[in-house]
Amino acid sequence: MSMPQTIATKMPKILIVEDSLSIRKTLALRLKDITTDIKMANDGLVGLKMANSHNFDLILSDVDMPNMDGLEMLRELKRNKQTRGVPTILLSFMESKHDISIGYEAGAAAYVKKTSTTEELKKAITEVLSKNAANRKSTILVVDDSLTIRRMVEAGLAKAGFQVITAANGRDALTKLVKDTPDLIISDLDMPVMNGIELCKSLRTDAHYAAIPVLIMSANSERSMIRNMIEQGASSYLVKPFNMEQLVITVEKLLSEQFQMIFQERERLERERTMMLATIASLIQALEARDAYTRGHSERVSQYASGLGKHMNLPSQDIEALVMGGKLHDLGKIGIPDNVLLKNGKLTNDEYQNIMRHPVIGADILKSIPSLKRILPIVLHHHERVDGRGYPDQLKGAQIPLLARLTGVVDTYDAITSDRPYRKGLSKEIALDIISKASGTQLCSECVEAFMDYIK
Ligand SMILES: [Fe+2]
Repeated sequence: MSMPQTIATKMPKILIVEDSLSIRKTLALRLKDITTDIKMANDGLVGLKMANSHNFDLILSDVDMPNMDGLEMLRELKRNKQTRGVPTILLSFMESKHDISIGYEAGAAAYVKKTSTTEELKKAITEVLSKNAANRKSTILVVDDSLTIRRMVEAGLAKAGFQVITAANGRDALTKLVKDTPDLIISDLDMPVMNGIELCKSLRTDAHYAAIPVLIMSANSERSMIRNMIEQGASSYLVKPFNMEQLVITVEKLLSEQFQMIFQERERLERERTMMLATIASLIQALEARDAYTRGHSERVSQYASGLGKHMNLPSQDIEALVMGGKLHDLGKIGIPDNVLLKNGKLTNDEYQNIMRHPVIGADILKSIPSLKRILPIVLHHHERVDGRGYPDQLKGAQIPLLARLTGVVDTYDAITSDRPYRKGLSKEIALDIISKASGTQLCSECVEAFMDYIK
């Protein structure tokens, strides 16, 4: 796993519990690259007190200490709801395998030898912090009709840093889901009111909850039973009795698989987006290759439109649509014959009718690309007029989609200010004057007002 967020964004708060003053000081020095937010305690009793009154991200504790040793302190920390989520690393001298396993049983997140190098110590701390930070972001719903099992599983998961909610049966779980959607559900199989399989089935048919992994716990280890559970939508199962370590490992695995799935989906969308952008680029190229005089026009409209959208505090999806809509608003000109599109003199009525087809042609080309759905209204309606005398649909006022009205204003501005084969571009002042005169008839007055404020 990469660097944990806690380290990248905020200094972790660490408690060092150690009876030797010189070792305490040396440890603090060795951790200075990770954090300077360090408190110290000289035995387990003081450590416990401090852990209760501060919100530590990690505790680094010696084992042998007077008054209260590290193991006893650790057990106390894990008994307390408030402190059991704080990961604790035990520091040892020459502990035997047996001692080490006692430490893990008491709830240690890791064991580090006192003789280890600073790099090794830092690596262990970083790993523990990162895992704990990842777990802390996950909420797990534990469903079991036995209060004892609920409490036991809840305590075990909380020790590993997870947020836990509980429910007494499937029906109860479905009610709790609405308030607090978990990242994972651990459910008993046999329960009154609604059992684990029924819960699974119900979740899988609800689009909101279908993606939540469900881990079934059952004393039944028959193959056919397990196969049936998986078929009904269980992601994995644990055969009772199991120990907490097994449970936590399974939970972490399921959550990372889910993370992988989300990650892959994001990558797929990103690929689709890149392809779409390449399509757009080639469409614009095709358009501008023909009509050298409007080269750069689409790019400028895109920049003005998105700038104005931001100025009007529109949501980010709209800004994105304005960026692409601006680039593609005149795409339909691809379908207009050269002798009309590139004509130098005045257009005849027929030729003008021909040009007026470009919004519909553009929209027709783009409607086959699903991810461009949001920009279709811009392409189709950027030549509508608020007085209903525009084209292609003679929409009026607010019937014209806002993004199309907005693009209409900046399109007009750029057409006036840029050079044409038959005339030089007009000045900004003249353009703004023309635009303000067109406000309320050709152009949307709110958009004009916002544009004046934006461009000044
Ligand atoms: Fe146009």
